[in-house]
Amino acid sequence: MDRILIRGGVPLSGTITIGGAKNAALPLMAASLLSGEPLTLRNLPDLADVRTMAQLLMQHGVAIEAAGGQGALALSARRIASTTAPYDLVRKMRASVLVLGPLIARCGRARVSLPGGCAIGTRPVDLHIAGLQRLGATVELNGGYIEAHARNGLKGAEIVFPSVSVGATENLLMAATLAAGETRLINAAREPEITDLAHCLNAMGAEISGIGSDRLTIRGVAALHGASHSVIPDRIETGTYMMAAAATGGELRLHGGRLDHVDAVRRALDAAGVCVSEAADGITVSRRNGRLAGIDLMTEPYPGFPTDLQAQVMALMTVAEGASMITETIFENRFMHVPELARMGANITVHGASALVRGVPRLMGAPVMATDLRASVSLVLAGLVAVGETVVNRVYHLDRGYERIEAKLSACGARIERLRD
Ligand code: EPZ
Repeated sequence: MDRILIRGGVPLSGTITIGGAKNAALPLMAASLLSGEPLTLRNLPDLADVRTMAQLLMQHGVAIEAAGGQGALALSARRIASTTAPYDLVRKMRASVLVLGPLIARCGRARVSLPGGCAIGTRPVDLHIAGLQRLGATVELNGGYIEAHARNGLKGAEIVFPSVSVGATENLLMAATLAAGETRLINAAREPEITDLAHCLNAMGAEISGIGSDRLTIRGVAALHGASHSVIPDRIETGTYMMAAAATGGELRLHGGRLDHVDAVRRALDAAGVCVSEAADGITVSRRNGRLAGIDLMTEPYPGFPTDLQAQVMALMTVAEGASMITETIFENRFMHVPELARMGANITVHGASALVRGVPRLMGAPVMATDLRASVSLVLAGLVAVGETVVNRVYHLDRGYERIEAKLSACGARIERLRD
């Protein structure tokens, strides 16, 4: 298994180009199942999760070919060969469950493996299932699979989410595009990735209004057609590199990053003593003079501070002056990075959903173990500021969501390399 070796202590300086958003790309690719005509997606990131989604779609019968230009694919679901999403692929990537809504809407049936728990929490899919039942589907659980049927098609309905779910909003948004009549999604998630999906679906002929708000109205249509769509830049990659600049005390220009998508991050970093400004082609980030200041924050659905940047901001706060209280409200087990950061000298105490971080003057390099995607990258950030050598093991987690991370960071002066086994 590959590892990443980092020799810390170098302030980063230079430009990093932000790639297409993984969490926008995955639902957009699943949306190709809704139409018999090709969906061309541009600015797709070159990531393990994107390849897994392509593999899943191909076994459903989607033809996928390069569409000219980097990161451009044409996905054509002229004929659906199978409505089953097998355990082996769903287990590998939970976002596979996003084929459920499109398959049942297009074919009237779907059989999708239940994903099971993962490193950051139990992550049930009850909201996806309850929403499909509201749209008239019958759903049974059989042998570890969700078996959904809508023999006479789905019917529009009002769905009030009891809590905010990105994936359930995406699945039901896609399903409702082909349902008869009007669907209203109330208390919908409003992450930029959902807005991106809604815009793409409208380009395919869907009739969605309320885009960007927590109330989406979808007027069902008989069929969707082909379209061409460019994936938004990855706000979590953007936020991660914002923290890399802040942590190392350098200055980074994040080419293509969208400041409007990371406003909560900008506010948190501003309070910690980091300058974040809009540049002509992206965002510029640098630390003000002196040490970072500790800050308190809580993760929340968008537009709040993203859970996908909680581990990274915690790595930053380990070397801030004073204490920080970081509260995770989205996932119940997303502090797996804490014991690893502690191995590098961080002073962190976890009480339930909150972590009290008491800043230390410096971290020390150490061998550490990645447990999930965002935990892994927080260890890379910690390695960039630590004195001495850090080796991050189980790098395959990083490869799921960060494109060419060693190349991007080393181009800005970081001493980082991949050790291949
Ligand atoms: C998406 O996951 C992202 N994944 C996650 O990114 C991200 O952390 C999460 O949204 C929150 O922002 C993709 O977009 C592919 P949720 P998702 O449904 O859709 C509970 C990363 O690192 N819940 O919004 O699975 C759930 O357990 C990943 O890139 C239910 O209880 O997240 C969680 O506590 C990790 N029942 C909360 O809601 C349900 O049916 C929010 O989950 C669905 C969710």
